[in-house]
Amino acid sequence: DSLKSLHTFSLHARCRRIINIESSRELISTIRALINEGDDTKYLMLGEGSNTVFIDDYPQLVLLNRIKGILVNENKSEYLLTVGAGENWHRLVEFCIQRNIGGFENLALIPGTVGASPIQNIGAYGVEIERFIDKVEFLDTESLTLCSFNKEQCNFGYRDSIFKQQAHNQRIITRVFYRLPKVYKLETSYGSLLHLVLPSAEKVFNEVIAIRKSKLPDPAKLGNAGSFFKNPVIDNNHLNRLLNIHNDMPSFRVNEHQVKIPAAWLIDKLGFRGKKIGNIACHENQALVLVNMGEGEGKDLLTLARQIRDSVYKTFDIELDNEVRLIGKHGLVTL
Ligand code: FAD
Ligand code: EPU
Repeated sequence: DSLKSLHTFSLHARCRRIINIESSRELISTIRALINEGDDTKYLMLGEGSNTVFIDDYPQLVLLNRIKGILVNENKSEYLLTVGAGENWHRLVEFCIQRNIGGFENLALIPGTVGASPIQNIGAYGVEIERFIDKVEFLDTESLTLCSFNKEQCNFGYRDSIFKQQAHNQRIITRVFYRLPKVYKLETSYGSLLHLVLPSAEKVFNEVIAIRKSKLPDPAKLGNAGSFFKNPVIDNNHLNRLLNIHNDMPSFRVNEHQVKIPAAWLIDKLGFRGKKIGNIACHENQALVLVNMGEGEGKDLLTLARQIRDSVYKTFDIELDNEVRLIGKHGLVTL
């Protein structure tokens, strides 16, 4: 089966078979059958493929998480949402805004599923999803039982969580429980959100959508997986060394000892913006986004990504980590 339309980078790749999973019961029976066939390591759970790039054929099974359902409860001070992992993330944000349930507005228009939202702790415009996570339900694929982790157990970090660190297929997320306080402070410290007059959740939602549409390529028109690398974090000594040479380098304080550097700036500075290898390019408006100009090939993507990583290391002594998951013939590929 073709995986081209199942990942937003849209490279040509095929897998052995695609199976839709619509409930946790179906998930358990599918995995039990795979175990009985002695085939239980040879599958991959996929949401909407917006953080996954198939750089080659993946000759195994691909399970699509399509577990649906949005349940809203409330108490005096909070809304409590129970959401199926296969719901579309942005649709959930819209659903909440329409019902005057605020909190998710800064995370509008992030592609992908609800189930993937805790995996890399999705974040944008000053908010990360960990802020609203109550617990995450998952299938432990060894015991074949449904378990859950509360927020602390999820071990969230910047673009990181226990689900990103785990062994292949160890836990498959089935439902996410969010907790949204009824009274909270809007996050408007970021860029043009600062200038909103009488900000409301809906205004932030609309502005975030406008900013994103102006900056990021639409995967329906130009294949991409958002930021290809994470923004690196460096310590103060390293920062000072670099500022001596590049005094215009932007940085954002993480804590007393560390700052985050926009990887886009580093890549841009090295002249990669707009650079092409075959049909893969470093995006003209956002150097951190690599794009498929149409009929792109996995090998060219690897070459360009490695060139970027190596030049950044050579010039800035910074090791870039890829944010996207690269999948090849034998599963996860390291850059
Ligand atoms: P997939 O790519 O389908 O899966 C991601 C990984 O999680 C894979 O390894 C997969 O095997 C695994 N997985 C998926 N579902 C499950 C499950 N239920 N249980 C266990 N494992 C699972 N991210 C941000 O944080 N902020 C942004 O602002 C942002 N902007 C983006 C803009 C664009 C244009 C694009 C294309 C991507 C952007 N991203 C952003 C990245 C992406 O949207 C998120 O990482 C999103 O959460 C991925 O969801 P998905 O369902 O598509 O995940
Ligand atoms: N910049 C350049 N050249 C460019 C683009 C940007 O020099 O081509 C510099 C500018 O100085 C700009 C800075 O880089 O101020 C930061 O750029 P931007 O605001 O576009 O954000 P980013 O750091 O590239 C991060 C996230 C995005 C998220 C936005 C908004 C990561 C890896 N990426 O991007 O997340 O939407 O901030 O919060 O943290 C994603 O994860 O896929 C993603 C798109």
